[in-house]
Amino acid sequence: MIHVRKIAHAVYETPDLARLIAYHSEVLGLTLVEQDKDAAYLASTLEHHSVVLRRGAEARCVRIGFQIAPDDDLGEFERQVQGHGIKTERKRDADPTIAEMVSFADPKGTVMEVFKRGEFAGQRFQTRGIVPHKLGHVAFHVADVKGITRFYCDVLGFRESDWMADYFSFLRCGPDHHTINLINTGKTRLHHTAFELRDWAHLQTACDYLSLNGYPLIWGPGRHGIGHNLFAYHRNPDGLITELFAELDQMKDEALGYFEPRPWHRDRPQRPKVWAKDPSAANLWGIMPPDEMMK
Ligand SMILES: [Fe+2]
Repeated sequence: MIHVRKIAHAVYETPDLARLIAYHSEVLGLTLVEQDKDAAYLASTLEHHSVVLRRGAEARCVRIGFQIAPDDDLGEFERQVQGHGIKTERKRDADPTIAEMVSFADPKGTVMEVFKRGEFAGQRFQTRGIVPHKLGHVAFHVADVKGITRFYCDVLGFRESDWMADYFSFLRCGPDHHTINLINTGKTRLHHTAFELRDWAHLQTACDYLSLNGYPLIWGPGRHGIGHNLFAYHRNPDGLITELFAELDQMKDEALGYFEPRPWHRDRPQRPKVWAKDPSAANLWGIMPPDEMMK
């Protein structure tokens, strides 16, 4: 089976394109690489774009891009998807630097854009804003967590990293503990988008920078139990939640089957599991998420 290797980009619609471009470039510190009347492409490091913003009626995440390996066959991947009875579309030059992609919808309607990275861009080290390493993961409210988790595993080749009870799944497609997470709330929309920072010091600077720019935290800083990442959450100007994180668990060797050991782990070794619905799964440091996090 061909499985996707990493998250490449996320595409958002926004009623106020200029305001969201300003947030992503000036506050988050991504590089505005390309812009036209209806869309903007923002990059972090190697890729031409990690975030695409498009004019739309409401603020929402509409598409997610995933890369397969250079030696993988895109046609074979497409047949693999079709083998699950899923309708696919082949697009040429749909986005800059992506010559060919296979697109199809996941069960909740988010469009998957799967491609081989042929061209790298390469951004300079930005000197303003938070400047994350990369887009880390995208989390969604869903109505059928079991079915959609199965879709990501069976169709795209994700693995289950952890579950919180039976309602919150954390799925990996590479070494990072999660790239997609799905919480069963009966709704169908974005929960949050997460960007990776260097370390705790970077997170501290980011929190101060957010505060100076009028973006108060809504939860954190803390350390999640599941994934063990340091976290701090705020809302972007469209009201969508952004997480900044560091020190996320890594499964460096799938054959070993456990996450890289860390002193803050409770399990030795720390293997994928079902966590009880316990405060420590949410925040090892003890402060529980406010209701705001579920709005
Ligand atoms: Fe997260």
